Amino acid sequence: MKIAVLKETKVPERRVALSPDVVKSLTKAGFNCIIESGAGESTGFYNSVYEQAGATIAPDKASLLSTADILLKVNAPAAEEVMGMKEGSVVISFLYAYTVPAVVDALLQKKISAFAMDAVPRISRAQKMDALSSQANLGGYKAVLLGANALGKIFPLMMTAAGTITPARVLIFGAGVAGLQAIATAKRLGAVVEVTDVRPETKEQVESLGGRFLEVQGEGVKTEGGYAKEVSAGYLQKQKEMISKHIADADIVITTALVIGKKAPLLVSEPMVKSMKPGSVIVDMAVESGGNCELSEFNTTVVKHGVTIIGEANLPALVPVNASELYAKNISTLLLHLATKEGFKWEMDEEVTKGSLITHKGELVHQFTKEILSKTV
Ligand code: NAI
Repeated sequence: MKIAVLKETKVPERRVALSPDVVKSLTKAGFNCIIESGAGESTGFYNSVYEQAGATIAPDKASLLSTADILLKVNAPAAEEVMGMKEGSVVISFLYAYTVPAVVDALLQKKISAFAMDAVPRISRAQKMDALSSQANLGGYKAVLLGANALGKIFPLMMTAAGTITPARVLIFGAGVAGLQAIATAKRLGAVVEVTDVRPETKEQVESLGGRFLEVQGEGVKTEGGYAKEVSAGYLQKQKEMISKHIADADIVITTALVIGKKAPLLVSEPMVKSMKPGSVIVDMAVESGGNCELSEFNTTVVKHGVTIIGEANLPALVPVNASELYAKNISTLLLHLATKEGFKWEMDEEVTKGSLITHKGELVHQFTKEILSKTV
């Protein structure tokens, strides 16, 4: 089967769907990998490196798209790209299908089977395919570094002849994949780290990384499919009150709170930003889904009330080498789970297939996407 890898067109994006190492293993497994010329350039994966790994370089995107059996991408294909694909072929990428109805329409029209990396179920069997986690992990790391860079202070305690520097205080909202990596990174740099999450079971994980867990009195929320369910307004109010003192003392706030399929919960209000020390920093990782901070702006850094607010929406793209390598492992593991060189297995009741298949044979088959899109029509 012929696999196509395109150069990502979303700006800013520096990742690519397949690394040369993974091309090598897919070629060994009998797949024919064809890479659009220059697709890996911004990652440092040049055409020649792909060729050495066994891939062919396609100078012409249109003919590549129209002849491929499988298209692999990082970001969702554009509707025009989908319209250029062969009818009945397969695409695998991050899709967030409920946010791109025009792309879904094109997939249905061309009877393309689309698997969404963002919909792979978070079960232990699928850990190697979990691109949300691999990318969020790198994002959590980079968020701390961006925050540290924007802060006029250092992280660790330092005793010098000229005086003692106290450690920076980092407050983290959300102890999921990104949050846990942010805790570990901030601790490694020497900060004092405090963390809040609505799932009580995260307390132990936070403490094992050396963070202090800020507990909200009252019942936390349970999880569903590895994600927190929505929290009540009353709980959020209590959390706000509890956190207000800690936010005023923080040098850096990193927000990573997510409730799947919902707008990001608003956790840092304008009065809370005002209460922070001048020169402090907020990194809002949830900016793409609306932001956890009232004042953050998409893909922009702003200064409000003396606080620098970083709304970088694609942190993994700032570490494109590792991000592409991990993503390539995730996507190829999913592909090899779903298909052999002879074709796709189409085991429709199998958990990973069922969880991640969005469109198939001209039908929208993904229940969650169907529900959200029907509400927005
Ligand atoms: P996750 O689902 O593993 O973690 C989210 C955490 O937020 C969960 O532990 C959940 O219990 C917690 N949470 C929910 N409501 C909360 C509340 N009111 N207060 C405190 N915690 C709350 O998600 P993951 O993978 O860690 O991603 C986190 C966020 O970062 C998502 O919004 C994701 O889209 C975003 N992200 C952003 C990137 C960027 O480049 N800006 C890169 C990767 C992820």
